[in-house]
Amino acid sequence: MSPELARAESLIASIPDYPQPGILFRDIMPLLADARALRATTAALIEPFAGSFDIVAGIEARGFILAGAAAIAAGVGFAPIRKAGKLPRPAAAVDYALEYGTATVEMHDDLPTGTRVLLIDDVLATGGTLAAGRQIVERLGYHVAGISVLFEIDGLGGREAIGDLHTVFHSA
Ligand code: PRP
Ligand code: MG
Repeated sequence: MSPELARAESLIASIPDYPQPGILFRDIMPLLADARALRATTAALIEPFAGSFDIVAGIEARGFILAGAAAIAAGVGFAPIRKAGKLPRPAAAVDYALEYGTATVEMHDDLPTGTRVLLIDDVLATGGTLAAGRQIVERLGYHVAGISVLFEIDGLGGREAIGDLHTVFHSA
């Protein structure tokens, strides 16, 4: 890992017992607030997929931040995968279980069939969120060109649930 990425990793805070007892919350906000760290991690998210995607999709809410930055860095557009009830023209919906709670994501179908989508989120825990993201992208007829995550929490089954994905940092 480059010194710049190691410095960025040091800015991720671990908050015990948030939002529930027993959950160790990974807080990326100090990293996002640091210009060098944000630039380095955005570059690291897209680097393995250079030239292989047409658009970046991010999952609400924290995935939006990194996916938007990645889209600008890569020179492509951005497509939101939103929590239920927030989109005016949802074309598909997928339910999923979170590390804490349950949720539904929705997406529009504005993109051409076969659009190559790089799917980005901030954290991989159980993998439920990204599995739902991948499912909704595929259900709408797009191609998942890759899945990229800032921080992978080991031991919660995310890697097994998602399979092939790129992660910049991980917890072990
Ligand atoms: C958090 C995080 C990931 C997800 C990871 O989202 O941002 O999207 O959990 O957990 P998983 O791998 O077990 O699915 P959450 O919906 O809790 O919050 P957010 O709206 O702030 O992104
Ligand atoms: Mg999230």
